[in-house]
Amino acid sequence: MQYYQFHQRSVESKEDFWREEAQKVKWSVFPEIILNDHAEDYHSWFPGGKINISRLVLEENISKGRGEQAAIIYDSPVTGKVEKISYNTLLDKVSKFAGGLKDLGLLKGDTVIIYMPMIPEAVIAMLACARLGVIHSVVFGGFAPSELAHRIEDAEPKAIITTSHGIEVSKKIDYLPLVTQAIDESPAKPEHIIFFDRNESGIKQTGVVDFVSLYNAESAECVEVESTHPLYVLYTSGTTSRPKGIVRDTGGYAVALNSSMEYFYDLEPGDTILTASDIGWVVGHSYIVYGPLIYGLTTVLFEGKPINTPDAGAFWRMVEEHKIKNIFTAPTAIRAIRKEDPKGELFKKYDTSSLKQMFLAGERCDTSTFYWLKELIKKPVTDHWWQTESGWPMLGICRGLEDIVNEPGSAGIPVYGYDVKVINDEGEEVHDGEEGFIVVKRPLPPGCMSTLWKNPVRFFKGYFEQFYGYYLTGDGGYKDKNGYFFVTGRVDDIINVSGHRLSTATMEEVVSSHPDVAECAVVGIADNLKGQVPLGLVVCKSGSTINEDDLELQLAALVRKEIGPIACYKNTIAVKKLPKTRSGKILRKTISQIADGASFTIPSTIDDPEIIDELVHDFARRSLGNAFV
Ligand code: COA
Ligand code: AMP
Repeated sequence: MQYYQFHQRSVESKEDFWREEAQKVKWSVFPEIILNDHAEDYHSWFPGGKINISRLVLEENISKGRGEQAAIIYDSPVTGKVEKISYNTLLDKVSKFAGGLKDLGLLKGDTVIIYMPMIPEAVIAMLACARLGVIHSVVFGGFAPSELAHRIEDAEPKAIITTSHGIEVSKKIDYLPLVTQAIDESPAKPEHIIFFDRNESGIKQTGVVDFVSLYNAESAECVEVESTHPLYVLYTSGTTSRPKGIVRDTGGYAVALNSSMEYFYDLEPGDTILTASDIGWVVGHSYIVYGPLIYGLTTVLFEGKPINTPDAGAFWRMVEEHKIKNIFTAPTAIRAIRKEDPKGELFKKYDTSSLKQMFLAGERCDTSTFYWLKELIKKPVTDHWWQTESGWPMLGICRGLEDIVNEPGSAGIPVYGYDVKVINDEGEEVHDGEEGFIVVKRPLPPGCMSTLWKNPVRFFKGYFEQFYGYYLTGDGGYKDKNGYFFVTGRVDDIINVSGHRLSTATMEEVVSSHPDVAECAVVGIADNLKGQVPLGLVVCKSGSTINEDDLELQLAALVRKEIGPIACYKNTIAVKKLPKTRSGKILRKTISQIADGASFTIPSTIDDPEIIDELVHDFARRSLGNAFV
C-alpha cells in the first residue's frame, strides 16, 4: 500500500487501524472499546484493556525464544565496561528488584523518582516499577537539586532511586548530596532512598536502602494494569518557570511504540540499535528503553558522549562492535563529530557495514549537517520531529513503509495517526509556504500524553484552548507544495540547547534573583554547535556598581547552581533598558533576530524604538550573537 493511503486510513478509520495494531501486543484483557472520544472531555485509547509493559518486554520476548538474546548492551567508555544483559537475566533482575520494591511497601499507583545516569540499574528500576504499576519519573542527571526538588514536590514519590555518581567524560558527579539537598528543599519527603553504589566500596551509607539488597527479595509477578494507567510522568519545560509533568498511559504507548519500530524505524526483532540520548529525556524512554525492548531488539545503553569518550569515532566503534543497524541521535552530536573529525577519518577506521540508516531529532537539523552525515555514511538519514508530549514521531519518513525521498531541511511528512496542519491566528489553515502554528487535529493517536500530572487545567489551557479541536504543539513552521513540513522553531519562550528543551522563564526567575538585577530577559541565540544557547539581557538596579564581567560570571554560576550545567547559561549583556511593547511585553523574538542577524521589522507597538539601535551596539560591543562575532 502507498504511504499516502496508509496514512489516510490511520486518521480516517482510526479505530480499525489501531485495533489491528493493538492485536500485535499481548493483552491480559483485550480492549473492547478502541477509542473513547468525548467531545468535551479528553479521549482515551483502549479503555477497559489490561496490560503490563514489563511482561511485554520480558516474559513475552522470552516466550518467543529471545531469552538468551541481549536485551541491553551497556557500553560505557567512561568506565571501560561493555556488558551484555540477556532477556533472561533482565527478567531475573527486574522481577527480584520489583519484589524488593514491593517489600518496601510500593504499590500500584505510587510514584518513584529515578535520578540515575545511563547505567543498566536505571533501566531495571524503570521496568521494575512498570511491573508493579508503580509510576516512575526519571529526572535527567544534569539538573541541579532545586530542579529535582520541584519534581519531588510535584510527583510526591514514595521512594527515590539513585546512585553514587555519574561520569561526565572524566568528571565524577556525586549524586547522593544532590538528592539529599533536593529532599531538604522539597516539602514532599520520600519514605525511602534506594542507593546503588557504583564504587562497590562496601561502605554502608546511612539512611538509604541498598539497591543490590533488593535483589534478595522473592520475584514479583506482573500487576496487570488498565490501559489508561500512567506508566510514567516525565517533566518537561513549559512557558512558566515550573516544569510540567507529562503523563503517559500504558496500553496506548505500548501499541504506538511497537508499531513505530517496524513502520517508522524499519527494524525487525533481533536487530541492534543505538539511541544516543539519555533515559532522562523522552527519546530515552521511548527508544532506549520501552520501544526497542517491547519489540524484541537489542538496545545499546551508551554511557558516553559522541566526542571525547575517547574521540569522535565512538558511534562508529560501537557500530562495528555491536553490529548496530540504526543510530538515532541529535544533530548537535553530529555537529560535534564533524567539528572533531571533518574528513570522517575515524568513520573509515571501522567496519560499519551493519549500519542501515540514521535518524535525527530533538532540534532542527541544518542542511549542511544533514548533507555532511549522508555523504559520510552513504546511507539514508531521516530527520523527524516529535516532543515529550507525543512520545513518538509526529513528522518524518516512515522508513519501514515506503522509501519516500527526503526533502533536506524538512522534518518530513505526517506520521500515520497524526493529522498535522499549519494554521494562522484565526485557526484557519494557511497556504502552502506560509508560516503558522503547527497543530495536530484531535484526537491524538495512541502513545501521546494523557494529561499533566495533577494539573488538568494547565493541560487544557496550554494545549487545547487556543485552537478548538487542535493540539497546539508550540512549534511554528510551514508546509511546502509537496506536503513536506518545515519546523522553524518554537512560538513560545522555550529554547532548544543541544536538543535539550529549556524554559527561558525558569532562567529569568533565577537571573532576576541576583541582588543587582532590576529586570531581565533571557532569549535563545543561534550557536554553531548547540543549535541555540541562552543569553541574558539585564538591567541593573540604580546605584548598582557591579561591572558587566563580574555580573556575567555570577549569573552563570547562579543558573548552574539553580537549574544545572545543562542550561549552558554563560553570556550576559548589561543594558540600559529592555525593548518592550507599550503594554510592557518584552520583545524577545526581536532580540533573538537581532543577535542572529536575521531580518526583522521593529514592531509598531514598540515603546522606545531607539532601544533597538542601542541593542545592536551592545551585541557588537560584546561580540555576542552570530551577527556580531
Ligand atoms: N549529569 C551531569 N552533568 C551533565 C549531564 C549529566 N547527565 N549531561 C551534561 N552535563 C553537563 C556537562 O558536563 C556540561 O558541563 P560543563 O559546563 O561543566 O562542561 C554541561 O552539562 C553542558 O553539557 P552538554 O550540553 O552536553 O555540552 P558538552 O559541551 O559537555 O557536550 C556535546 C557537547 C555536543 C557532546 C553534547 O551536547 C551532546 O552529546 N549532545 C547531544 C545531545 C543529545 O543527545 N540530545 C538528545 C536529546 S534527544
Ligand atoms: P522535547 O519535548 O524535549 O523532545 O522537545 C521537543 C521540541 O524539540 C519540539 O517542540 C521542537 O521545538 C524541537 N524539535 C524536536 N525535533 C525536531 C526536529 N526534527 N526539527 C525541529 N525541531 C525539533
